[in-house]
Amino acid sequence: GGQKLAIIHLLIWFNVYFPFFPEKLLVLTVATQETDGYLRFMQSANYFNYTVKVLGMGEEWRGGDVGRSIGGGQKVRLLKEAMEALTDQEDLVVLSVDSYDLIFAGGPEEILRKFQEANHKVLFAAEGLIWPDKRLQEKYPSVRSGKRFLNSGGVIGYAPYVNKIVEQWNLHENDDDQLFYTKIYLDTFQRVSIGPVWLSWLECGANVSTHDEVLLKFGTKSARVRNTIYDTLPVVIHGNANTKMYLNYLGNYIPNTWNYERGCGVCDHNMVDLSQLKEYPTVMVGVFIEQPTPFLSEFFQRLVTLDYPKDKLNVFVHNNEVYHERHIQKFWEESKDVFNSFKVVGPEENLSQGQARNMGMGLCRKDPGCDFYLSMDSDVMLTNRQTLKILIEQNRKIIGPLVTRHGKLWSNFWGALSLDGYYARSEDYIDIVQSKRVGVWNIPYMAHIYLIKGEVLRNQLKERNHFVLEKLDPDMALCRHARELGMFMYITNRREFGRIISTANFNTSHYNSDLWQIFENPVDWKEKYIHPNYTRIFTENYLEEPCPDVFWFPVFTERACDELVEEMEHYGSWSGGNHEDKRITGGYETVPTDDIHMKQIGYDKEWLHFIREFISPVTLKVFSGYYTKVCNDPTTVTSTIILHQLLYYINYYITSIILHQLLYYIIYYITSSIILQHLLYYYIYYITTSIILLHLLYYIIYYITSSIILHQLFYYIIYYITSTIILHHLLYYIIYYITSSIILHQLFYYINYSIT
Ligand SMILES: *[C@@H]1O[C@H](CO)[C@@H](O)[C@H](O)[C@H]1NC(C)=O
Ligand SMILES: *[C@@H]1O[C@H](CO)[C@@H](O)[C@H](O)[C@H]1NC(C)=O
Ligand SMILES: *[C@@H]1O[C@H](CO)[C@@H](O)[C@H](O)[C@H]1NC(C)=O
Ligand SMILES: *[C@@H]1O[C@H](CO)[C@@H](O)[C@H](O)[C@H]1NC(C)=O
Ligand SMILES: *[C@@H]1O[C@H](CO)[C@@H](O)[C@H](O)[C@H]1NC(C)=O
Repeated sequence: GGQKLAIIHLLIWFNVYFPFFPEKLLVLTVATQETDGYLRFMQSANYFNYTVKVLGMGEEWRGGDVGRSIGGGQKVRLLKEAMEALTDQEDLVVLSVDSYDLIFAGGPEEILRKFQEANHKVLFAAEGLIWPDKRLQEKYPSVRSGKRFLNSGGVIGYAPYVNKIVEQWNLHENDDDQLFYTKIYLDTFQRVSIGPVWLSWLECGANVSTHDEVLLKFGTKSARVRNTIYDTLPVVIHGNANTKMYLNYLGNYIPNTWNYERGCGVCDHNMVDLSQLKEYPTVMVGVFIEQPTPFLSEFFQRLVTLDYPKDKLNVFVHNNEVYHERHIQKFWEESKDVFNSFKVVGPEENLSQGQARNMGMGLCRKDPGCDFYLSMDSDVMLTNRQTLKILIEQNRKIIGPLVTRHGKLWSNFWGALSLDGYYARSEDYIDIVQSKRVGVWNIPYMAHIYLIKGEVLRNQLKERNHFVLEKLDPDMALCRHARELGMFMYITNRREFGRIISTANFNTSHYNSDLWQIFENPVDWKEKYIHPNYTRIFTENYLEEPCPDVFWFPVFTERACDELVEEMEHYGSWSGGNHEDKRITGGYETVPTDDIHMKQIGYDKEWLHFIREFISPVTLKVFSGYYTKVCNDPTTVTSTIILHQLLYYINYYITSIILHQLLYYIIYYITSSIILQHLLYYYIYYITTSIILLHLLYYIIYYITSSIILHQLFYYIIYYITSTIILHHLLYYIIYYITSSIILHQLFYYINYSIT
């Protein structure tokens, strides 16, 4: 739904006709600290060349907590002091406004023009709610339209007249400024007026009403806020306590922050050039492993390969998972000397997530040499090695790089908050996530990865606990603290930085559990397990055809091969190479090998998916026009090659491994050197098992003849000597030999098989 922005209207003070054209506008604002809101205000004022005089900077604020209760008297006192020197300048128009929650959307000429058109001496901002004294309601003049009650957030008037008001101030610093102005306004003697005329503060000159709806409107040169009901363009935009976040959103666009033509207008402001520094800032990197996380070794690898001097990095790791201890141990052994320091707090400490994050942040806070604190969750895969440098150079108090879940709209920030403080989608959220709008964005919530200046931790965020608050998630607690302190949090999408991986459905009970992530985290799976030259098959025809219809190409990384082998060794239960095989329908294996089926390690679905994703495209390329279907119904068959494949997969589906094996040996046949290896293998095998003699013979024949038919025949003759069941196999292979059609003999084979 649309956000409401409280629109503050101007209400008439003196209604005295006084025709002349003021040339000068002076903006007076009270700001005791250079908050982010103040800096934004000044940036918008400088953009339009306003003359701004800041009152009270560096002074202690004694005006009370104006956001929550009455107060603000200090502002009137400061204004009073400033006006004393200006009281003689009759042609000077003074605009006194707040700065922390205000942005200019138009220039001084526009304000002066609208002020002159209003034709009054002093105008106050107005609002719809009476505050702080409700009893004064009936004393207020009634209005036909517009807002009825005075708001002290903005005053505009000729200097002598403004002075006449503020010189009456003699109250305490924490007395209420709005009540002070209200009492003067309600004093009919002082209000020389012929009846209330209202002027919208926001629209400054257009018709008046109680409208609350404002919308962002993109013009050719810059964005403006449009009053959607009255179709006006307000000059001064003021957010109150409830609309501060919406003001932050508007501030991402106005006055010149971002537009469609030019993109970001302020992103290069106040940047730091790291190459100009004598030495790089020292960064404390807090790494949080709060749940089992796939690809953790890759995460650490990316940390090591960040383009940043490692002696400037201190690493703090909080690991909440016993499962990951061996990964961290391995990483520590490899890279303990790489970083300036490396500290791990393990699951035995039993820290809550919030406590751990407080601890990490505290390490930077208490070390005066710590220039930045980079908080990173283990599910963030930084693909951009420059990330840390880019964030530092952007020079913000709190900034995070945009990281998203691959192919999803899920990211590490929220563009808006719901009323109860949870996620709400801002109008620009999708454009930012998809980088259709590129810039540095002021947002109300971020998580997973962010950089905070050390000096901020030692000043505004000097409290030791920012992460444990009620029942909030730790990051929500931090962001709420930052928002309440008026600190802006930014997300940048000026570059691509990386992604957030999914930690859902991560089953850690396998030996190399990442292998199973092909569905949940396909991008990271591919990066880890698929050979880097795989794509060159398609771009550069990167494959070999050592003999007709047989292809050689890179698919797996060495890592994948190692892990698959490890996984099988870990399972350990090899089939033994017997013909009796309970895993197969019928329980009989014609060409036994000593193996473990993917199904046995629970990898069959993943394996089929791998074939579908990575082998099928190659098949499609090399057997052009033929489509590989990994499983399920065989349909039209047009070629012996395809039929072959199809039968293979049908076979696979039925869980018979026979054809599978046949194909396997065809490929082996090409690589004749591997046969020798097998020979050796079976020779060794023979020493331990007597059944294997026939295998030896089989492979000798295989090697000599290089004809798959003959040696199969030979194989079965030998087999026949030891077992009577095999007669039908003999017949089968005779047919095979005669027809050389794979279809007929397969058919025959299966008929035969079912009969016997
Ligand atoms: C502000 O002043 C500068 C320098 O005189 C000028 O170039 C710029 O256009 C002015 N900006 C606006 C918004 O008028
Ligand atoms: C202002 O009010 C007058 C009279 O009610 C109306 O004619 C005019 O269209 C209004 N202008 C705007 C911009 O709403
Ligand atoms: C860990 O802390 C939680 C809550 O702080 C507590 O309930 C739990 O018993 C602790 N476990 C151990 C092993 O100390
Ligand atoms: C995790 O994998 C193991 C071994 O394959 C399996 O027994 C278990 O059911 C799986 N757990 C879940 C939640 O899928
Ligand atoms: C990829 O192919 C190139 C060129 O043939 C080769 O130099 C490189 O080693 C290959 N990459 C890997 C990881 O094998």
